[in-house]
Amino acid sequence: MLRTHTCGDLNEKLEGQIVTLCGWVDSHRDHGGGLFVDLRDRYGITQVVFNPPDTAPEVIDQSKSLRAEYVIRVTGRVAKRPEGMANPRLATGAIELRVTKLELLNKCLTPQVSPSATDTPNEDLRLKYRYLDLRRPAMQKTMLQRAAMIKEMRDYFAEQNFIDVETPILGRSTPEGARDYLVPSRVHRGKFYALPQSPQLYKQILMIAGYDRYVQVARCFRDEDLRADRQPEFTQLDVEMSFVDADDVIGIIDGVVARLAKKFLDLEVPTPLPRMTYDEAMERYGHDAPDLRFDMQIVDCTDLAAEAEFRVFQTVASSGGRVRSLNVKKGTDHYSRRGIDTLTEYAAEFGAKGLAWFRVEADGTLNSTIAKNFTPELLQKIAARLQAEPGDLLLFVADSFAATCKALYALRAKIGREMKLYAPGQMNFSWIVEFPMFEYDNEEKRWSAMHHPFTAPRDQDLAMLATDPGKCRAKAYDLVINGSEAGGGTIRIHDNIVQSQVFSLLGIDEATAKDRFGFLLDALQYGAPPHGGIALGVDRWVMLFAQLENIRDCIAFPKTQKASDLMTEAPGGVELKQLRELAIKLAE
Ligand code: AMO
Ligand code: AMP
Repeated sequence: MLRTHTCGDLNEKLEGQIVTLCGWVDSHRDHGGGLFVDLRDRYGITQVVFNPPDTAPEVIDQSKSLRAEYVIRVTGRVAKRPEGMANPRLATGAIELRVTKLELLNKCLTPQVSPSATDTPNEDLRLKYRYLDLRRPAMQKTMLQRAAMIKEMRDYFAEQNFIDVETPILGRSTPEGARDYLVPSRVHRGKFYALPQSPQLYKQILMIAGYDRYVQVARCFRDEDLRADRQPEFTQLDVEMSFVDADDVIGIIDGVVARLAKKFLDLEVPTPLPRMTYDEAMERYGHDAPDLRFDMQIVDCTDLAAEAEFRVFQTVASSGGRVRSLNVKKGTDHYSRRGIDTLTEYAAEFGAKGLAWFRVEADGTLNSTIAKNFTPELLQKIAARLQAEPGDLLLFVADSFAATCKALYALRAKIGREMKLYAPGQMNFSWIVEFPMFEYDNEEKRWSAMHHPFTAPRDQDLAMLATDPGKCRAKAYDLVINGSEAGGGTIRIHDNIVQSQVFSLLGIDEATAKDRFGFLLDALQYGAPPHGGIALGVDRWVMLFAQLENIRDCIAFPKTQKASDLMTEAPGGVELKQLRELAIKLAE
């Protein structure tokens, strides 16, 4: 080894020892007579001193050519720092290394991203020079935490008898609702592999094959619009189990939540985790992944709104729409008239046609530009329904149920953030259950699967598959952490007749089903056990546990919002010869 210790190892106990360190020059300060260097590696920072009498004049001269991020090897004596010079913020802050020998291992061009910078550098530069960015202690901390979290998950599942099985990357398309990444086959001209959107079908086949409990840290690929919590290539902790119902799968995941929360956040999370049905979540929070770190529930006021001499409310209420509201507790302090205008503009971005509001005055009366359209009795009823108190701000959106959900969900999240309705380190883990089997796509005039087409309906809803698919509820469950979908799974259909019925409801005709999922339909006829599972979004878990805003900050080599890798410049062009081999011709 080139070194005897790391830059995080040295302390007072080693005083007087001769040691050798290797690392990067984090910073260097010339004090005329000598030089101080903060030497950095993955383990920490050590102050390295080139001063007489320990350091010979020629070594001091040599040290003066050191620049940021040069890679050096130094040998010297561990010494206690002089009185008053200790740095309690550094693990090695009590000592310094008095250098006798310096070896330059490598130079570094002027770094575009400074690992020692206290501000976060520009993201495009960080992604282009990822090797410099990954040197930043904050990034290294996240990468270490990511590795530790994945290890903890693997340990947990191994202890519970799960078997790790790798599934193919080159395969058939699995329908998780996004576009596929395709890989052309050279051998089979005109044919394509699809990169897996998840190992869904393989893990089901493994259950049919008798593996009973499967786990995999699996890479998934989805060509979809990217957001702060979405990458085209991401990692799932993928799980499947045989002879189970939804409670069993949920129970296993409750265990992993409690274990990781304890280990990484020092939180005691009581299990079983709370559960809420999909309908309840939509009614109370307007979304199937509600942020339950704070209360502020949506309250329905449609019946009261119908009584008002206020055109918008009346029209919406009488035409089957809904008037729903939020009571922003103590909101008048936080949102002035100008603030309310900003909220209105924000709601409009999410499709709201307007935002009606009332301020609750000191005497409890409701005040607003629209108050004249309401009788005092009606205002009182509204105040009572919303449990309004002086200083509260009441917000109303009138529209279809779906539109009120969208706008109020967005408003609630924004207000929660702005009014700091939850503490920085606060965590909430909950389940949303009983999702609908299908959603109706109004544009395409057809049903689509809410989760994926292999999801089993609840036993009591089976008959409704034929009569009222919209009412059919699924054996589906999503894990929500702080308003983010951190995992999702279902009990699967293990009967090929029900599976064919679901395919046909989804408009997948028999020929297509046979072509794309024939192997599954076949396998289901060879002794398929009842089975189900879940996939956890590992990147999102790391992001949420490490309190990061952006999923890119917990992936070593992420893609931009436009799905490109700025460091390798992928996707890149290919040679004409390669295209010819693949029988591919680019359209003009
Ligand atoms: P689903 O599509 O819900 O289920 O995915 C499971 C979890 O993966 C995470 N996730 C993502 N993370 C980052 N970037 C993305 N683009 C992305 N898409 C999804 C989410 C999500 O909850 N095969 C099923 C699981 C099953 O039924 O067992 C599946 O893939 O945290
Ligand atoms: P208008 O009658 O359009 O001038 O709107 C009067 C008030 O009602 C304004 O404060 C609007 O923001 C609000 N408003 C208009 N449409 C809606 C709606 N669909 N839901 C809630 N408030 C609305």
